[in-house]
Amino acid sequence: MDGNGRWALSRGLPRTAGHNRGAEAVRRAVIGAAELGISYLTLFGFSSENWKRPPTEVDDLMGLLRLYLRSEIAEFHRNGVRLKVIGDRERLSPDLVSLIGGAEEMTAGNTGLQLTVALSYGGRSEIARAARRIAERVKAGEIEPGAVDEALFEAHLLTAGMPDPDLVIRTSGEKRISNFLLWQTAYSELVFIDRLWPDFTKQDLEDAIREFRSRDRRYGATASQR
Ligand code: IPE
Ligand code: MG
Repeated sequence: MDGNGRWALSRGLPRTAGHNRGAEAVRRAVIGAAELGISYLTLFGFSSENWKRPPTEVDDLMGLLRLYLRSEIAEFHRNGVRLKVIGDRERLSPDLVSLIGGAEEMTAGNTGLQLTVALSYGGRSEIARAARRIAERVKAGEIEPGAVDEALFEAHLLTAGMPDPDLVIRTSGEKRISNFLLWQTAYSELVFIDRLWPDFTKQDLEDAIREFRSRDRRYGATASQR
């Protein structure tokens, strides 16, 4: 979700105004994805690098998150959404951590859209953490080094058990992955759209899915092998 700041700047508004409008786009995207029958939606809400932003902006973003976890979650719950947060929770404030835990617990039994929100998340740090945990298990004699394969590694990621993303959409015209799900996006189709995140609509989601459907996915094989 990129472009909140530019959305605000182009209107002579403070960046916070862009984040507020961005939160409305989150609601449209989540409800839209649920209506379209999508099984998994992962939103990159706040990266481990976003902590470098001015403290006032970080506070605004955390405040928005708090507000969201208190108010919006009931509507998501009514729509059958199951919430999961991935990222480094230790850097989040304790009240947020408990709000997240409460929201995850409340929606745990839902069978609709699984909404994963990446907060204080970084792909490299996730991979390093998985490697550390596997090393600890090897050291403890629980697993043999030879047993470390792609499936075992995947099981130690924060997304363990989730399918890899088929489609990654980045808004605002930037064409980068920016440390998002580095392991998991190995074969994802990437769609970059110029629209800024606060202007993102359900139609944009549908357009991106249409673009995705037109792609020829070979996973390294030739077309005739599939
Ligand atoms: C996206 O918008 C959202 C967050 C990181 C929370 P930005 O804040 O990155 O907006 P730009 O890139 O400055 O326009
Ligand atoms: Mg940005």
